[in-house]
Order: sequence, then structure tokens, then C-alpha cells
Amino acid sequence: KKVVLAYSGGLDTSVIAKWLQETYNCEVVTFTADLGQGEEVEPAREKARQLGIKEIYIEDLRETFVRDYVFPMFRANTIYEGEYLLGTSIARPLIARRLVEIANETGADAIAHGATGKGNDQVRFELGAYALKPGIKVIAPWREWDLNSREKLMAYCEEHNIPVDYAKNKKKSPYSMDANLLHISYEGGMLEDPWAEAEDDMWRWSVSPEQAPDAPTYLEITYRNGDPVALDGKELAPHELLAELNRLGGENGIGRLDIVENRYVGMKSRGCYETPGGTIMLKAHRAIESITLDREAAHLKDGLMPKYAEIVYNGYWWSPERHMLQAAIDETQSVVNGVVRVKLYKGSVTVVGRKSDDSLFDASIATFEDDAGAYDQKDAHGFIRLNSLRLRIAASKGRHEV
Ligand code: ARG
Ligand code: SIN
Repeated sequence: KKVVLAYSGGLDTSVIAKWLQETYNCEVVTFTADLGQGEEVEPAREKARQLGIKEIYIEDLRETFVRDYVFPMFRANTIYEGEYLLGTSIARPLIARRLVEIANETGADAIAHGATGKGNDQVRFELGAYALKPGIKVIAPWREWDLNSREKLMAYCEEHNIPVDYAKNKKKSPYSMDANLLHISYEGGMLEDPWAEAEDDMWRWSVSPEQAPDAPTYLEITYRNGDPVALDGKELAPHELLAELNRLGGENGIGRLDIVENRYVGMKSRGCYETPGGTIMLKAHRAIESITLDREAAHLKDGLMPKYAEIVYNGYWWSPERHMLQAAIDETQSVVNGVVRVKLYKGSVTVVGRKSDDSLFDASIATFEDDAGAYDQKDAHGFIRLNSLRLRIAASKGRHEV
């Protein structure tokens, strides 16, 4: 029996690695991914070794994460419940996929993760795994064991000679956090009171807007087929581009969010998020679409978006409905090319310019000045008369308001 564990190298998943070996008398394979969380992943190798792990996978997945997950999601201008840019949600299907692939490579029959039984992440990992390998077994220790406090976990470490960086765990952040190239999230601790404002030193990626520079930063973002490909004319790989947007956004106090969201499992949860680069990308993508997309295609896309967001949030990335919507969204993006100019200033992103060879914007039609004859104002009379026909009929039958 063999289990592939999503292993961060932290206290919780180290305990899980040991607990799995003991409880299930199985071999454990660890998988640690660099998704741009900003912490070294290589130390996980030595930690895993000390836990008696023989097969250790450590991978840099930053490029595929941004290119194949983040960018496709941004083509839809995706936000959950009007606010959340889905930073954690979008990373889970990639991790699920690698867990399954590694299980196949190593002949493992199960996977394990460190998500609790109360959250979304368990759902996302497991729906992803089942969709990719229907016979896979899943072990979720948090739903099985009774090590439900920090003290019990520490005691378990003591008993089992698991090396713990006590200094690090003493000053450990009071929040449950998750980070990758798209965002960093904070939940729990004092945030469990939705009325209590987050302390300023909680935020790790951005300065507060009040502390941001007094001079604005201007930036040009080039789009090709709906994806950003260059900053100020310099072509960058997807993960480099997002990292650079995070840096610029963070410096200008952009992308902080404090919300109460509806988890798929039914409860409401308060979370704080920093998504500096994503916040810029969302604005810029809408701006380039504003000149390149047909109105009806754009509106239909907007109508599909909340459903797409819910699919991603709830963990159905590897589902027929996500593939179906993705195909529709991607179909619109071949004309989404050009350059957007944004101004970053004290927490705000303002679009100040947009241009494209695929632009549908026609100044000679839109102008308030003399027009060249492409639009005859007299036509508007019939347009309005016919569109008002049903309203006039209803009104004439007494269904009027005044
Ligand atoms: N509430 C957010 C979500 O469901 C963030 C979850 C953070 N996960 C974590 N393991 N700390 O996507
Ligand atoms: C967890 O419960 O493991 C984190 C929060 C979430 O998944 O929603």
C-alpha cells in the first residue's frame, strides 16, 4: 500500500506523513510544489527524508500554474460572489492532477492531503482526483484523527521524534494562510469576527494604500489571444509576468480584499486576500475586451462568468461543464489582442488607454462631430419606434405606470 501526500514541509503535513505510515502501515510518497508561494520548497526534501520518506517529489509548477490555470480563468474575467479572485481555488486542480499522476508513476493506490473537513480545499482536491482517476482512494487525516489542536500536534511530534522548528512555530502567524503566484489568503484567528478590522501587519504582499507612493506608476500590458504577454513592451513568461504585476501592484497598495464568502460546504467564512497582479489583470483584460469584442459576445460571456466562477470555486475544474464554458470563452479570445495602459496609484488601478489592431472602435462612427455618413441619425427614429412597439401596446391596454 502506498499513498501520495501533498506535502508542504510544514508542521501539519509532517505529522500527516508520520501518521499515515503508522496508521495505515503504508509507504508515503511526498509531493511538494513551487506555485510561487514565495517559500523555498527544496528544504522539504530533507524534512521528508527525516520522516523516513523514500520517494520525494519536488517540482516547480509556476509556469504551468499561470499558463494553464490562471490565464484561462482570467479570460472569463472570473470573480466569485462579486469579489474573490479565486487564488486558492484555481491551484487545487493542478495539485490534484499531479497527485494522481504521481500515484500512477509510483504505483500508489491512494492520495492524502492536509485540508480540514470544514473547508473547500478538501472538496477541490478530491473532486479533482476522482475526475482524473475514478478508482483512487483518498485519505483526509483531519477528518479521521483527533489531533485537533496545535498542542496535540506538537505533542505528537515530541512522541514521534518529528523535528519541529519550535522557534518558527512560536512566532507562527495566527492565521490559516495559503499562497501562490495569484494570491495570499488569510483566514481564522481574529478574522473570525467579521466586524473586526484586520491588523495592518497581517498583510504580507502589499503596502497599505495610505503608505503607497505619492506618484503614480504607469504600465503598458500587451495582450495576445486574451492573455497578457508583455509589460512595457518586454515579453515575459506567464509566471514572470504575474510575479512582476504582483511586485508593482504590491508597491502601490493594490489588491487587498476583506470579505465574507459562502463556502461550498455550507458555512459562511471571513477571509482576507491580497491579489495585486490579478487585480491589475482583471481590469486590463476587461479594457482590451472593451474595444475588441462584439457587444453580444461580451455580454453573453459576462452572463456565463458567475457560473464559471462557481464551478471553479466549488472544485469542478475537471468537469464537462467547465470544459464546455472554457471552449465558449476561448472561442472569443482570438481577437483579444492589443495594449492596455494602466495607472497604479494608492490602491487603485485605472485604465487610461487601450489600443488594438483588432479594435472595433470606430471614431468616425462614434464621433459627436460631423460624421462621414456611416451612421444616419434619422435611422434611430425607426429603431426606437419599433423597439417601443410592445411597450406602447401594453400602455394602450392600461398597463402604464402613470
Ligand atoms: N476561502 C478561500 C477559498 O476557499 C481560501 C482558502 C484558503 N485555504 C487554505 N488552505 N488556507 O478558496
Ligand atoms: C481548510 O479547511 O483546509 C482550509 C479552508 C478551506 O479549504 O476552505
